[in-house]
Amino acid sequence: MDIKVVDDLLSQVNIVNVIERYIPLTKAGSNYKALCPFHDEKTPSFSVSEKLQIFKCFGCDAKGNAVSFVRDYEKISFWEAVRKVADMAGYILPESNYDKQKKSKFDLIYQAYKLAKDYFAKNLNEYGDQAQKYLDERGITKEIREKFGFGYAMNSYGGLSNYLLKHDIKPEILPETGLFGSNERGIYDLFRDRLMIPIHSSSGKVVAFGGRKLDESQPGGKYINSPTTVIYTKGRELFGLNVTKYDISKRDHVLVSEGYLDMLRLYEQGFINTVASLGTALTSEQISLLGRYTQNVYIMYDGDEAGIRAALKGAAEVTRHGFQCRIVALPLGEDPDSYLLNNGKEALQKLIDNAMTLQEYFKEEKILGLSTNKKVNFLIDVARDIAGDIDRSLFLKGVSETFEVSYPAIISRSKNKIIFQDYNVTLDYLNSNKYPEERLLLKLMMEDKELVEKIGEDIDASWFFEAEYREIFEVLIEHNGKLNQVSSYQMVVSPEVWARMSEIMLMKTPQVEIEKIVRDVKLRKYRQDLAAMDKIIQAKGQQSELFEKYEELKKKVRELDPRGAQKLLY
Ligand code: UTP
Ligand code: MN
Repeated sequence: MDIKVVDDLLSQVNIVNVIERYIPLTKAGSNYKALCPFHDEKTPSFSVSEKLQIFKCFGCDAKGNAVSFVRDYEKISFWEAVRKVADMAGYILPESNYDKQKKSKFDLIYQAYKLAKDYFAKNLNEYGDQAQKYLDERGITKEIREKFGFGYAMNSYGGLSNYLLKHDIKPEILPETGLFGSNERGIYDLFRDRLMIPIHSSSGKVVAFGGRKLDESQPGGKYINSPTTVIYTKGRELFGLNVTKYDISKRDHVLVSEGYLDMLRLYEQGFINTVASLGTALTSEQISLLGRYTQNVYIMYDGDEAGIRAALKGAAEVTRHGFQCRIVALPLGEDPDSYLLNNGKEALQKLIDNAMTLQEYFKEEKILGLSTNKKVNFLIDVARDIAGDIDRSLFLKGVSETFEVSYPAIISRSKNKIIFQDYNVTLDYLNSNKYPEERLLLKLMMEDKELVEKIGEDIDASWFFEAEYREIFEVLIEHNGKLNQVSSYQMVVSPEVWARMSEIMLMKTPQVEIEKIVRDVKLRKYRQDLAAMDKIIQAKGQQSELFEKYEELKKKVRELDPRGAQKLLY
């Protein structure tokens, strides 16, 4: 039983009929609306699109397809939900013993990860001199290395696969572990010559790895991370939680940082009630997970623009859950690791003691350039999703005091429609949606499979400037022809990417020509390349090889945009 079966099932059922079995829906334009079943609300912000076969709540984070609705509503497993939906539609699932198969596949992949962790750890001791030296230099103690199961992936294309095969992992399981790439000659180890940091589930099973470069000249990103597999979805786990959950519970608060090394430095310096969200804003799933141990969350993200955006988004999400949230403001350019190394733990403790509420932090925040009005409206909208009446009014009182707007004025504003629009504008800021043309292109691709193929021949992912859009583009290209329903993509992407995908799906389809958008995307890229070459030419002087390329690009720009070319080139 695999994803294709679910994809087929989803093409046979109508999400409207499925959801209507649980909650009443009313038609609104081309969509259906309802009071959201996943959070407490008084005005409907839950929307179901019959055309796209997805649901999305604009109030809380809920979104998905018919199967995931049943899963989330009934709080059952995904595969139980598949069976239920199949029953509702009279759809016959191919195998009856899929549960057993599914379970054993989970176990086999867990086993492969456990073996991989042992293998990497052994390598670190036996062959990892360079990696050990790197860790020495960064001041990561031997104790931490052991406690968190550090390892080293050797510079080899077959080391790990050989090891796993030797330890009775079946060859057909290897491609599903996410630990290998593949080409014409077969599979090869994905992690090579990297420091290996295991990511564990909260119960302590290894489910993924982060592999860090040992020096900057190495190819690839600073970190390579395991992709989504049947045992791992990015945005659902928190790094370090398996070790620190008891201390989080005991101290009844948690410090959340962005990075692996931040979390470990905090831990080493005695801030042991800490986890890392791993390069993303806290997701709803991660917050629920933390809620088992504490409802007091301190967000301690990097002091840069991305960190500020992510801190605001994360804090809003924590607030929606009805938890208490504080934001620790690090100076510009610092992360918890560097701050501790430069200033020591007393200084950091002071920052923690002075941590701000979401309202205070948002008021002080100047980098994103949002008006006070927009900020207040955004916070009012966040408050709508707080389930408890007392918690909600406490939060709004905080807004009132911080922004010096009277409480009755806040309450009357919360009934105004403008709030919702402002909320979307603000969310765009927080998401840094700088590239509307990319979003538009993806929207059109999601609606037309033939277009995906055509565009895939014309441009590739590197033409996208926004990392999340790039990821969506790759997913669309990869699964085109394999998945028929856009709603099936929920099963193959991370929760954040799915959130962005469903946002895009629900946009109104604009009346634009696809050729024009592709042309815009190309022009941007050419102009960016030209600007980069300009810089080199200015620094190093004219080089003949570069000059040829430069002229070639200029010609392309002129062809695409005869009128605009001149003004942009000089
Ligand atoms: P940072 O770039 O702040 O890295 O990304 P860091 O954690 O400070 O790492 P060091 O100290 O330089 O080693 C924060 C987090 O974002 C994710 C990782 O989870 C990282 O810890 N990230 C970053 C990636 O997954 N890939 C990357 O290429 C960069
Ligand atoms: Mn960092």
